[in-house]
Amino acid sequence: MNLALRAVAQPGDTIAVESPAFFGLLQILESLGLRALEIPTSPTTGLSLEALDIALTTCPGVKALVVVPNLRNPLGCVMPDARKAEPVRLCARHRVAVIEDEPYRELIDDQPERARPLKAWDRDGGVIYCVSLKVLAPGMRLGWMSSGRWRARVRLLKFAQTRHNESLAQFVAAEFIGSGTYERHLHRLREKLRVQREASADAVGRYFPSGTRLSLPPGGLLLWVALPDGASSDALFEAALPHGIRIAPGSIFSNSARFRSYIRLSCPRPFDERMDAALRQLGHLAARLDAA
Ligand SMILES: Cc1ncc(COP(=O)(O)O)c(C=O)c1O
Repeated sequence: MNLALRAVAQPGDTIAVESPAFFGLLQILESLGLRALEIPTSPTTGLSLEALDIALTTCPGVKALVVVPNLRNPLGCVMPDARKAEPVRLCARHRVAVIEDEPYRELIDDQPERARPLKAWDRDGGVIYCVSLKVLAPGMRLGWMSSGRWRARVRLLKFAQTRHNESLAQFVAAEFIGSGTYERHLHRLREKLRVQREASADAVGRYFPSGTRLSLPPGGLLLWVALPDGASSDALFEAALPHGIRIAPGSIFSNSARFRSYIRLSCPRPFDERMDAALRQLGHLAARLDAA
C-alpha cells in the first residue's frame, strides 16, 4: 500500500478511502503526508457509489481511491460483483487511480473464488492490485501486487526502498500455495473462523446491553458492533484494559468522531470459557457505560 500510494501521489494530495477505514491505512496516509477523504459505505454492499461519484465530481484533486471490496476491515462487507465495474469506470473517467487492497478474500465462507477483485474490470491499467499472504502466515510479511500503468514507478520505488525480499520465505510460500495443502489450510481456517465468529456474536447477543447492534459478515474474523446510542467506545476500551481485554474502538477507523459508539471485535482464537468470560465482562462494562 505504501508503494502504491507513493507511486500515484505526492505529499499534500488527497486520497479517497472507505469509511470506516482500516486504521493501518490511515496511519500510512498520515506518514506519507496524504489527506484522507472518507467515503461512506454500507455494512452489506460496501462503498457507496453515489457518494463516490459526488466526491470525485466535487473534489477535483483526488489522486486515488483505496478500496477493500472483499471482506473489508472493520465492517466485513463484500461488495457484490454487480457493483464492481462502476468504481473502476468512475475513477477511470476522473483519471483517479484505484488501489485495491485484498488481504481477506479467501476467508469468505462460501465460494470465495466467486468474489472477483475490481482488477477484473480494469481495462486501462488504472487499478493497482495489492494482495497480502496473511491468510497463509501473517508473520512472513509477504504479498504481491500488479501495478497496472504504474509498474515501472513501483519497481523503482521498491528497489530504492528495500531491494528484493528474502528468497527462502518466498520459495516456501510458493511451494505451499502450489500444493493441495494450501486449499486444505484455507478450508479448515474458514470453518474455524466461522465457528469462532458465530460463537462470539452469540455471546455479544447474550451479554451486551439492549440496543447493541451487530453486522454478521459472510466470513473472516471481525465483528463490527454498534453500542447503544451515545456510549463511548474509547471509554469502553479504557475500562476493559485493566481486565486484560483489548478491543479496537471505532474512533481509530476514521479521522472523524462518526464511529465513536462502535467497537471492532476480533475472533482469531478458539471460543472457550476465557473468551466467553471476557465477552461477559465487556458486556457488563458496556452496560455500565450505557447507564452512566
Ligand atoms: C484491510 C487490510 N489491509 C492490509 C492489512 C495489512 O496486511 P499485512 O499484514 O499483509 O501488512 C490489514 C491487516 O490487518 C488489513 O486489515
